[in-house]
Amino acid sequence: MSKKVYIQTFGCQMNVYDSERLMGLLNAEGHAITRNEKEADVIVLNTCSVREKAERRALGRLSDFYRYKQNNPEVMLVVAGCMAQRKGKDLLKEQPYLDLVLGPDQIFKLPQLIGNHRITNRVETYASREDFESKDIWEKEMLPKRKTPYTSFVAISRGCDNFCSYCVVPYVRGPERNRPFDQIIREVQQIAESGAKEVCLLGQNVNSYQCKGKDFADLLRMVNDQTSIDWIHFMTSHPKDLSGKLIDEIASLPKVCEHIHLPLQSGSDRILEIMNRGYNSADYLKRVERIKEKVENVSLTTDLIVGFPSESEDDFRKTLEMMEKVEFDAAFLFRYSVREGTQAASLKDDVPEEEKLKRLYTLIHLQKEISKKRNQRFLGKILEVLIDGKSRRDKNKWKGKARTNQTVIVDSKEDILGKIVPVKISEVDSFTLFGKL
Ligand code: SAH
Ligand code: SF4
Ligand code: F3S
Repeated sequence: MSKKVYIQTFGCQMNVYDSERLMGLLNAEGHAITRNEKEADVIVLNTCSVREKAERRALGRLSDFYRYKQNNPEVMLVVAGCMAQRKGKDLLKEQPYLDLVLGPDQIFKLPQLIGNHRITNRVETYASREDFESKDIWEKEMLPKRKTPYTSFVAISRGCDNFCSYCVVPYVRGPERNRPFDQIIREVQQIAESGAKEVCLLGQNVNSYQCKGKDFADLLRMVNDQTSIDWIHFMTSHPKDLSGKLIDEIASLPKVCEHIHLPLQSGSDRILEIMNRGYNSADYLKRVERIKEKVENVSLTTDLIVGFPSESEDDFRKTLEMMEKVEFDAAFLFRYSVREGTQAASLKDDVPEEEKLKRLYTLIHLQKEISKKRNQRFLGKILEVLIDGKSRRDKNKWKGKARTNQTVIVDSKEDILGKIVPVKISEVDSFTLFGKL
């Protein structure tokens, strides 16, 4: 029997991609996707566990749906993704109205489950760890149903083997499993043929990709040479695995965009060591130097955590110094959040909350200045921009992305949606570039 399914996604790009694959699969099995929760037979929350706040948001949403379910008892309520994996059976105990709990690998069983499942209040769990052991997660090819036709995610691996001491991802997503490159190339070509201009290759650590003797640099070359996609982005790059060969390929392959997301996490070598990151600030700077030297006009973005256990004023100052040395184009800034079961959870979370906040605001302020300064380099330049919609603030203007990943607001009377167009930049602020076709 055909069902209407409503899906809400939390967390990172990988979750967005999983939801897209799930939607593709549901459609293929004859189910419909709805954007209106009020008409749904099945409600799915695809959740994130990376910080406590991410879990709290999903749980808040879940309680909205409980109330809804009291009046609509036939609705099936599903929690999927990373929080489903982390909390597993506890979630079923805590949440009496929940019908299904599906870990990030089990999520693709949903079509089969709702197909032959009589919807009752019977609770089942499919969040076993077994599927992690299986390497055949990539065996079944599925064509994701994408939200925007112009730019698409394509995963090249699942899971992570790095075990940074603060991070829950290796526990909830399992070990790294690389996807066969022929499958990746096929999917990139499919999206190119359906009108996409840009692909973003996804993995928790794309730089450790390995398949039949090919590494990530080889994969970039294959996607560049063997598909008709125009732009290639990728994330996330782990600094410890960013090889000179890879930097050279990024510099030389015409379709590979001049943007590298390279999480630093902290500027203090002592903290980096406890974080188990596998590099120090000098290693990081060496790579940044090489990138800047080889990749013309490159844009570098990062992730930073403040208030990691034992982070002193002095450690924090080193993070500020690194930000000033590297001059990131943008940074995602987080307050440390204890994740049960991780190595760092055994350390005392000893930086007071107000101190974490103070440090966070200091970083936000500094990054804003740096971004604004960095964006000045585009003034008067003509950039290629991929147009993906209308500006939210001014419906007469277009919105798009530069190759270097900045948002660009474009003045043009022509219909340029979905195209890559030349734009002359006339104004910039910390977050946005403005220009004319
Ligand atoms: N694989 C990617 C993404 C990991 S999650 C990577 O290695 O970068 C995205 C970001 O969340 C991380 O880079 C880190 O900065 C942040 N993060 C992860 N765990 C965290 C925690 N316990 N507290 C605060 N921030 C965290
Ligand atoms: Fe987490 Fe580190 Fe893996 Fe990124 S590389 S997902 S931060 S363990
Ligand atoms: Fe969150 Fe899972 Fe992504 S924990 S950040 S949704 S891999």
